[in-house]
Amino acid sequence: MNKNAPIGIFDSGYGGLTVFEEVQKLLPEYDYLYFGDNARAPYGNRSFDVVYEFTLEAVQFLFDQGCPLVVLACNTASAKALRTIQQQDLPNIAPEKRVLGVIRPSTEEIGFLSKNHHVGVLGTTGTIQSNSYVIELKKFAPDIHVTQHACPMWVPLIENEKHLHPAGIQFIEEDVRAILAKDPLIDTIILACTHYPVIKDKIQEIAGKHINIVSQGPIVAEKLKEYLVVHPEMEEKLTKNGSRTFYSSESSVVFNEKAERFLGYPVASAHHSF
Ligand code: DGL
Repeated sequence: MNKNAPIGIFDSGYGGLTVFEEVQKLLPEYDYLYFGDNARAPYGNRSFDVVYEFTLEAVQFLFDQGCPLVVLACNTASAKALRTIQQQDLPNIAPEKRVLGVIRPSTEEIGFLSKNHHVGVLGTTGTIQSNSYVIELKKFAPDIHVTQHACPMWVPLIENEKHLHPAGIQFIEEDVRAILAKDPLIDTIILACTHYPVIKDKIQEIAGKHINIVSQGPIVAEKLKEYLVVHPEMEEKLTKNGSRTFYSSESSVVFNEKAERFLGYPVASAHHSF
């Protein structure tokens, strides 16, 4: 059992590292434990029941490692599992612990980012079909015109490092052109999948400089900082030794290699499977 009480960060795969990176940059003193369920990624095309079951297993694992607070750095898990975990599971399994998602913090900010209030949302099939962005945006910015588009190939391409191959680029071009064709007035596109910041430059190049392409990492980091100020009872539980621990359900050799390419520095992970 970990003596630290780290902030747990979960994603189906490597995408959550784009959130982890921003969070630990803004809040470096805390301990962090990242878990990527790489062996079972992608989650994007899976049913509600399966995403919920996998996400709950990951949350339970992070709780068992001593995390008082877990961030689901995955839109698909946030869309399909977060509410059930918060409302049904937490009161039974760990009433004093907390699980946060990435959709609400993002939708709180989007209204401030678009000038003409025409916003595009790119995500996995699961996130787009859940309509979570449309529902949440209506609460925070009811005058926003939202256009969604699912990009089912992007996560598999990124997980397999094929996103910059010509065939990968073709999928990215098709999807970016498709959302802009649905609403040519879009001035802001939210990357509603934590894997997508890896191809942000390519998306920007295809969309054009006049469109604001928004990654969630910095937004989630700021919102987590605010959360810890408003919740001192949680903040006090978190240990602050600056440690970074990584677990993956894939082989640690494979995870280390790919995570290093995401983060730009060496990673030594441990293996955990269910
Ligand atoms: N990074 C996850 C998300 O934000 C990817 C989901 C998947 O595994 O398809 O949605």
